[in-house]
Amino acid sequence: MTEWWNNLKAWLSIFWAHADAVPIRIKIMGMVAGTAFLVGGWSIFQVNEVMKQEAERQCHDMSIALASELAVRAQEYVLLNDLLGLTQLLKNAVKNLPDLRYAFVLDNHGEVIAHSFEGGFPLDLLKVEHGISPAVESLAIKTNEGQVWDAVIPILKGEGGLLRAGVSERRSETARLSLLNALMLTTIVVAGLGILFSGLLTWLLTRPLKELVNFTRMLKTRDFSARVTRITDDEIGQLAAAFNEMAAQLEMAERVRQDADAMRSGFLQKVILAQEEERKRIACELHDQTAQSLAFLMLELRILEQAQDQAAINASIGRLRQALTQELNSIRNMAMELRPLVLDDMGVSAAIESYVRRFEEGYGMKIDLYLDGFDGIHLPFYVEIALYRIVQEAMLNVVRHAAASNVTVIIERIENEIRGVVEDNGRGFDVSSLAATHRFGIYGMKERAQLLGGSLSVESEPGQGTMVSFVIPIRQVFAEDARLP
Ligand SMILES: Nc1ncnc2c1ncn2[C@@H]1O[C@H](COP(=O)(O)OP(=O)(O)OP(=O)(O)O)[C@@H](O)[C@H]1O
Ligand SMILES: [Mg+2]
Repeated sequence: MTEWWNNLKAWLSIFWAHADAVPIRIKIMGMVAGTAFLVGGWSIFQVNEVMKQEAERQCHDMSIALASELAVRAQEYVLLNDLLGLTQLLKNAVKNLPDLRYAFVLDNHGEVIAHSFEGGFPLDLLKVEHGISPAVESLAIKTNEGQVWDAVIPILKGEGGLLRAGVSERRSETARLSLLNALMLTTIVVAGLGILFSGLLTWLLTRPLKELVNFTRMLKTRDFSARVTRITDDEIGQLAAAFNEMAAQLEMAERVRQDADAMRSGFLQKVILAQEEERKRIACELHDQTAQSLAFLMLELRILEQAQDQAAINASIGRLRQALTQELNSIRNMAMELRPLVLDDMGVSAAIESYVRRFEEGYGMKIDLYLDGFDGIHLPFYVEIALYRIVQEAMLNVVRHAAASNVTVIIERIENEIRGVVEDNGRGFDVSSLAATHRFGIYGMKERAQLLGGSLSVESEPGQGTMVSFVIPIRQVFAEDARLP
């Protein structure tokens, strides 16, 4: 039993493995054709059985009825011993009744005294064993012409012998066969129509599905411009619409990603370029300013060496001191621009304060500075430098683009977050046109904030001033670095 079950399971799994790979159209058409043939076959079988039984019953009854009728009519010939008339009666009956195949009369000794056969009596018929006479009965016998119902009827209650008549099933057999043929033809036509319609239906169903499959293949190759043609308005049509929506979103996301990539690589180039520019500037500064000053100092020292009197010495020392002070200041400024040491020494709030104050002096601009929450703490280095550079860029933008009379800088640490705002009352600008400018100042500020897990936004409108605001989390990103009180 278990072996049988295991074999069945193995066969089923092989069948499913093959059936799985068959296209839907063939599966549906196969199912429809299979069902039509199954139903048709079953109907044919049923009809055949019923008709067979009915034909047998009819032939049985008919054979008895015809034989009884003939037996009655044969009585007078038997009584008159008119064997010729009797033979004529039997032959006429067979001739006129299409179902009646033969008829014959046996005398009381079992001898055939009259029959309807033209070419001699077939003796085999006498071997058919009926019940004990004078019973009325009919038996089915097999002949070379098919089944024949052989009925036996006693004449004159058995006194005048027996009449036997054979009714052939041929006619009802022919009718049965032609009905079966018609049924078979109907089954084939129904199956054919079923295959045709199911093929049409699956074609209608699978055509958009095929298109969807092709569409997803195109998506796989990152061709997001592909769209599915919406053929119908049914569920498949809705699916196509949903796919199209998804493709549109993917296309937009792809465009945003490509723009961001382009922006990022532009930014990188700019950073590298800026580094080189900075090096060039320092080299020029060292060459033009520092080297010149040192040459001047050498010259001044030579003058000092050759000075004859105290007054000349004093004048030379004065010039030397002045030149040294100038040079010292210029080196200090250079160092400051490169990297504010105060950032390392006193922390970011002091560095921002000193930067803002120098700005105020340098550009004669009124700046309201508000710093809070930084007392006695050192933030992680990355946060400090990012904060400083963001403020620096925002302030430089104010100077370069805003033509503002008033600037407000607010930076505060609230628990584990730094929130900052740099606002000016300058000419403002259209923020939506920012992407098209391919400038990197604001982009760089945003990148710095995002790198630390924060965010930065710029709000502005022409004539309405500009506000740069940002949030940088401290603990989330640099929880271990942070040295909070
Ligand atoms: N405070 C401001 N007031 C008015 N316009 C501004 C302000 N800040 C920025 N903008 C406008 O936004 C543009 C982009 O600024 P962004 O800082 O990105 O580039 P940039 O300053 O022009 O060049 P850089 O890449 O050297 O910083 C500026 O060109 C300017 O038109
Ligand atoms: Mg800028």
